[in-house]
Amino acid sequence: MKLLYCQRFLLYILLISEYKLIKFVYSIQFNNSSLSDQNFGNNLKENNVEIILDEVFDDENDDYMIYNSENIPIKFWDEEKKEKLKSNEDESIDDIVNISSTSSGFRFYNFLSVDEKKIYDTILSASYESPPDVNVKMTVKGVSDIDAYIEEISVSAEKVFTALVYENPLLWWIGSYQVSIYKTSKEKRYNLIFIILPENSIFENYSPAEIESLTNEVINEKNNIMDQISSFNLTTDYAIMRYVHDYLIIKIQYNLDENLKHIRTIYGALVDNECVCEGYSEAFQYILHQYGINCIIARSSTHEWNFVEMNGKWYIVDVTYDDPMINGESLLPGYASNLKTQFFLIGTDHKFSNGEKYSDKKDHVLVYSAYSEEVMVTYPEIETSDYIPNEFELQELKLIDISNISIECMNKIYI
Ligand SMILES: *[C@@H]1O[C@H](CO)[C@@H](O)[C@H](O)[C@H]1NC(C)=O
Ligand SMILES: *[C@@H]1O[C@H](CO)[C@@H](O)[C@H](O)[C@H]1NC(C)=O
Ligand SMILES: *[C@@H]1O[C@H](CO)[C@@H](O)[C@H](O)[C@H]1NC(C)=O
Repeated sequence: MKLLYCQRFLLYILLISEYKLIKFVYSIQFNNSSLSDQNFGNNLKENNVEIILDEVFDDENDDYMIYNSENIPIKFWDEEKKEKLKSNEDESIDDIVNISSTSSGFRFYNFLSVDEKKIYDTILSASYESPPDVNVKMTVKGVSDIDAYIEEISVSAEKVFTALVYENPLLWWIGSYQVSIYKTSKEKRYNLIFIILPENSIFENYSPAEIESLTNEVINEKNNIMDQISSFNLTTDYAIMRYVHDYLIIKIQYNLDENLKHIRTIYGALVDNECVCEGYSEAFQYILHQYGINCIIARSSTHEWNFVEMNGKWYIVDVTYDDPMINGESLLPGYASNLKTQFFLIGTDHKFSNGEKYSDKKDHVLVYSAYSEEVMVTYPEIETSDYIPNEFELQELKLIDISNISIECMNKIYI
């Protein structure tokens, strides 16, 4: 059972009691787009903080460390959370995320404050350095009340990392973080260090050079897929998406062996060809981004899949669920016999062959992704009806030949 496997390892963000209250109060709330203009980060009266990026960073010295967070998981949760999740498997729940009324061009990034965007941008460019920087430093000024600021930055960091991880599947090594704060010689000014590979994190022992080399393997696989797409002369987003969907399903063997480090990353999906839902959805998103197709991560307490924008409207794609097990076994790479398109660009009212509706499926109930209960994430509104392809898009599907994908698999030795 794919679902159960996934459940065990994903976060359940709310205690039952808290959760029931919140569920009652919030259910699904509709925000307007002006939210993106608000500065959530600067709402504490004592502090008028600003992240500054062009200042010389004082040498940090342990004597000046005034705060050091724990290792905060974004993707890889701890045992306690997993247990909570398991004990809540039978709860029926409603979406507890905010839904934006403006969907066209939606990005999680747009809901960050000015300072949160600066932190996001800085970590993003540090992560794309060669090799990536895994201790990202910046300075904040205007901090009068450091305790209040610590609370503020804890919430901000969680929002930033959630958006970052949801929007940048290639940054596979970012699964948790730690934030440290150091006093500087200047009044009201502190240095922040975001530690991307904290102690006890899953990729702790990878050097930046190793990270870069694994990332290059992922990029090579991506280029290979894009070459295939051009050799078929596919031009529509619809056909491209369908090829990527089919490619991943044929290539990947669903595998929940925790001894394999990469089952939750794009590396597991594209290079090892063994992963769980996170690998499928992040690989799908990454390839689609190469074509400028807006595709985001959707997350429940038990599962991860995608939402895709088509002509300004959003639809559901769940590649993992279109690669079902057969008699309890996941197929080896190279086999297409279980390939389904039940979750390809559907709407929330979609009914499956067994009569079940998408919106009634517990494993697709959206949650806020990260660690705390109090902050929620905003998603675009998803269409109720399925996407209806036009004649040209349907014609293009005929150009696709999936037989070479199997040949590729046969040529690769799977241990
Ligand atoms: C793609 O287009 C090229 C150039 O027009 C053509 O030579 C080739 O046969 C086409 N490939 C397919 C698979 O249709
Ligand atoms: C979600 O909506 C509530 C109520 O409108 C609002 O207070 C909160 O800030 C929103 N959260 C996010 C992350 O946008
Ligand atoms: C598929 O494989 C055949 C035989 O190996 C090869 O000639 C052809 O170019 C391949 N097509 C694509 C699109 O990779």
